[in-house]
Amino acid sequence: MAKKTVKKKAVTKPVKKKVATKVASKGKRSAVVDTRVVYCGDNLDQLAKLPEGCVDLIYIDPPFNSNRNYEVFWGETKEKRAFEDRHASTQAYIEFMRPRCVELHRVLKKTGSLYFHCDWHASHYVKVMLDQIFGENQFHTEIIWRRTNAKGLAFKSFPNNHDSIFYYTKGKTCTFNRQYLPHDEEYLEAFYKFVEPETGRRYRLGDLTNPNKNRPNLTYGNL
Ligand SMILES: C[S@@+](CC[C@H](N)C(=O)[O-])C[C@H]1O[C@@H](n2cnc3c(N)ncnc32)[C@H](O)[C@@H]1O
Repeated sequence: MAKKTVKKKAVTKPVKKKVATKVASKGKRSAVVDTRVVYCGDNLDQLAKLPEGCVDLIYIDPPFNSNRNYEVFWGETKEKRAFEDRHASTQAYIEFMRPRCVELHRVLKKTGSLYFHCDWHASHYVKVMLDQIFGENQFHTEIIWRRTNAKGLAFKSFPNNHDSIFYYTKGKTCTFNRQYLPHDEEYLEAFYKFVEPETGRRYRLGDLTNPNKNRPNLTYGNL
């Protein structure tokens, strides 16, 4: 996954403002929900408009309980965009997120996935909350996103320089599209030294012998 080099900044309008719905002209209409619509506003209200089991994949990058307010001047027009990330306590933050996550769980398809982006401020509490909503066994993994290299502070303590993305699925059978990235050239040179002349495909030599002496039928001759 690509590293995020910039500090987290606000990008959307304050969510308490009035709800607006924009309809984009292009895009395919799904059988269960109109995917050409962008719903703006508090996601608790907006999610309530969606039918159960209509979404394949959810990624959320919500407030992190960072105890800061964010403000950014956006684009050429320098439009001010801001959001607040101050909560009375971590528990208050979790109680703010919980009904939203319950709604997210509701709108997911049985084969759907949720990716919840957070960081050290509340990640451990978020994990427990999501376990309660999705079920512990529906947790697949925690993706660690290293945001920066360790800075000077690392001399005083270990650095907090990564975000966490929790991956859950609603059901046991889920859609997972395998991710492919090209290998580093160095790795290919070191481990796949040989090239098949006819196709140009790289390969390595491997050992097919079975070290288990009591299973001669699983032992093959050397190449
Ligand atoms: C951490 S920022 C996300 C930044 C964005 N994903 C990005 O990469 O730049 C959190 C966002 O959640 C939005 N937000 C906070 N509470 C919300 C709510 N109840 N409903 C919808 N959006 C909300 C904020 O306006 C803010 O844009």
